[in-house]
Amino acid sequence: MTTLQPTHLMDFAYIAAIALFVLALKWLSSPSSARRGVLAGEIGAALAVGTTLFNPELVQYKWIVVALLVGTMIGIPLGMVHMTAVPQRTAMSHAFGALAAATIGIAEYYVRFPHLTKFGMTEIALEVIIGSLSFTGSLIAAGKLQEVLPQRPITYRGQNFVSLSVLGAALVLALILIIHPEYSLLFIAMVIVSLIFGILLVTPIGGADMPTVISLLNSYVGLSAALLGFVLNSKVLVVAGALDGSSGFILSVIMCKAMNRSFTNVMFGAFGQLQPVASGPKQDRIVRSATPEDAAGILRASNSVMVVPGYGMAVAQAQHRVRELFDLLTKKGVDVKFAIHPVAGRMPGHMNVLLAEAGIPYDKLVEMETANSDMPQTDVALIIGANDVTNPAAKTEQGSPIYGMPIIEVDKARTTMVIKRSLSPGFAGIDNTLYYMPRTLMLFGDAKAFVGDIVQALSDGGGH
Ligand code: TAP
Repeated sequence: MTTLQPTHLMDFAYIAAIALFVLALKWLSSPSSARRGVLAGEIGAALAVGTTLFNPELVQYKWIVVALLVGTMIGIPLGMVHMTAVPQRTAMSHAFGALAAATIGIAEYYVRFPHLTKFGMTEIALEVIIGSLSFTGSLIAAGKLQEVLPQRPITYRGQNFVSLSVLGAALVLALILIIHPEYSLLFIAMVIVSLIFGILLVTPIGGADMPTVISLLNSYVGLSAALLGFVLNSKVLVVAGALDGSSGFILSVIMCKAMNRSFTNVMFGAFGQLQPVASGPKQDRIVRSATPEDAAGILRASNSVMVVPGYGMAVAQAQHRVRELFDLLTKKGVDVKFAIHPVAGRMPGHMNVLLAEAGIPYDKLVEMETANSDMPQTDVALIIGANDVTNPAAKTEQGSPIYGMPIIEVDKARTTMVIKRSLSPGFAGIDNTLYYMPRTLMLFGDAKAFVGDIVQALSDGGGH
């Protein structure tokens, strides 16, 4: 009978960590269990890292302690950023993850050099290429989102040819190294070329497409970590990297589908360049606007309200006022629901997070399909800072950049009210035909202030 060895205990701990990662992903898929998911992921990561510290191959802890302190010092302020800065914060996390994967791969090359098998060199080369390009790509994405770099797509003639040639050069260098791992100068060249490719890959993409790009880079980092797991013979890293890689990829696919865009369009479409807004018939179109008191009166007289939040609610930080409105209307017997479009806002789950922060019950949030089937029986669709996700042009205007994107069909409600500051376009840079429809009322103003005024009017008993 075999006795229980410390290595067996380590294997058990790794299996538990992997189970926690799987549960974390499962729980993260619903707002009601998301917090549990985060906790499971944190415990899983702590278990995996903690167990690795007991690896008998570890000879000294000095540098690990230094790295832990430096990482903690960077991580704590990074985790405390404002909600609207989460996309760039996530991009920074990916950049650090990619840097870690790339540098460990580089270190492994020098540790094993020149006794590398062809297979070992292939693993290291692929891992280092993906890690390096994800590092610079994520830094550019964070810079664009933080607006320290221009948000607009930066393009020039022959760009795709140049970018693909640079990637080709990195792959050719990798091939030569697989045959001659001892050419260490070529290894350095391969790292540099990969870092340059990451910059070229992300610079031509518009700032607002960054969440999709970040999620794609996330999947690259996961792939790089999984490859690193093979290099280091760490099963937990292989599984964690594969989970990270596949979930990031699935998220990118979901985002692309919800925007009705292909990967190629996101990566090479230079979306987000300013487009001239069509003139002509626009001047003749009639826009009806209303005051907070008018809006309060309409809401008071309704039985059902579908709130459609969007990016403007996040910018205005109006979610707490929206909660007050929800409470008041619910108290008055109005059935209030929230329609969540998968790409409302600027990052996945943006609206869910804001509404959860304000304490809106999860069961009041409905997905786009349910919202659309309820819409014809809804008295008021109240749009708060959303634009593209409600634009009927997505269904009617072939050739529009958003043609084919599924939308929340607010124009089917009995009355549609839109809170925003002007008739300006949203992310896609196009006019919204909803604003000129006979059943639409525009409520011009900042979302937080306007919702606050409606709440005031309702509390004062105004708007009769
Ligand atoms: P948008 O179409 O971007 O429209 C947001 C609107 O909010 C703007 O038209 C703006 O109009 C208004 N706004 C800004 N600040 C405001 C304030 N303080 N108070 C009131 N309104 C304010 O937003 P959306 O409908 O949420 O659509 C999201 C867009 O982002 C989609 O096109 C989607 O494809 C894209 N996108 C989303 C994601 C994810 S994952 N969510 C990722 C990439 C791209 P005014 O200037 O007139 O106020």
